[in-house]
Amino acid sequence: MRDLLKKRILFFGGKGGVGKTTCASAMALAASREGKRTLLVSTDPAHSTSDIFERPFDREEREVCPGLTGIELDADFEARRYIDGVKTQIARLFSPAILKEAERQIELAASMPGMEEVALFDRMSELIVNRQDAYDLIVFDTAPTGHTLRLLRMPELMSSWIEALSKRRKSLLSLNQGIDKLRARMDAKPAEADPILATLELRKEKLERVRICMMQHNFTGFVLVLIPERLPIEESARAAETLSEANVNVCGIIVNRVLPENLEGDFYQARRQQEQVYRDEISRRFRKYALHWIPQFETDVYGLKNLERISHLLVKSRSV
Ligand SMILES: Nc1ncnc2c1ncn2[C@@H]1O[C@H](COP(=O)(O)OP(=O)(O)O)[C@@H](O)[C@H]1O
Ligand SMILES: [Mg+2]
Repeated sequence: MRDLLKKRILFFGGKGGVGKTTCASAMALAASREGKRTLLVSTDPAHSTSDIFERPFDREEREVCPGLTGIELDADFEARRYIDGVKTQIARLFSPAILKEAERQIELAASMPGMEEVALFDRMSELIVNRQDAYDLIVFDTAPTGHTLRLLRMPELMSSWIEALSKRRKSLLSLNQGIDKLRARMDAKPAEADPILATLELRKEKLERVRICMMQHNFTGFVLVLIPERLPIEESARAAETLSEANVNVCGIIVNRVLPENLEGDFYQARRQQEQVYRDEISRRFRKYALHWIPQFETDVYGLKNLERISHLLVKSRSV
């Protein structure tokens, strides 16, 4: 999988527990060992990058090994930061009398479902758009719910959110007799005349830029991780399809925790036989993708030493 290190952004996705964090961490470690300035971003609320590296990750970028920077995004924290950012912006624009009502509106919007997700994606977008030059490679370890797939739809979702907000904003403005002048400007050119709407539009544009980055196949790749079992196979097949439809490059599929060969015992034989069925199915159903097989280790994977083992396997693995 060494060729994957040439990409600028790698996403690791798949069902919960299949080894996304393990593989994303191993790949990031490999990249940093090859001298690439690497950022490993954990977006899964069940952060485990700290556990794997056995050192704390922070909500802000922080070096965890030489050449490897880590960050664990915190949705609540990002939502607060997002809302506070909007408030700071409007504080500069309105008189104290109006500000109170405007802030109430913002808080209302903040309690809308999906707000944390919007803020999280906003932060991810910021890393993609603004931190691109600081790193050779950014690796995203994603949450199992396929929320990364929703990232692609975010600009679209944001549009309806912005629309809902803009409706509220307009009714607020028409209630407020004191800001006739602004209202007159709004009627003429809503997005430009209203500073809050303009800010939201800017955010939407940033998300659009991210979407374009994500669709550039030599720039961004998506690695699907699965294990040879029924449910992960089905989920990965659906994800691969959704990603292809969205024109995102699925640049590799890691089949993790494959039973090692030549062990003894009836239990092992039965497991291995069952696994063979799934392995054949994976080879057949995912034949158009680069497949990489990683064995089940005798212990779970944490600590740099273990991680390095996976790292070596991944980097020297050739697709079959
Ligand atoms: N090849 C492997 N051999 C043994 N244990 C593994 C292997 N890959 C992952 N694990 C273990 O499986 C568990 C889940 O892995 P993790 O990477 O956290 O999954 P995910 O991020 O997809 O939820 C962890 O305890 C990890 O150490
Ligand atoms: Mg994980």
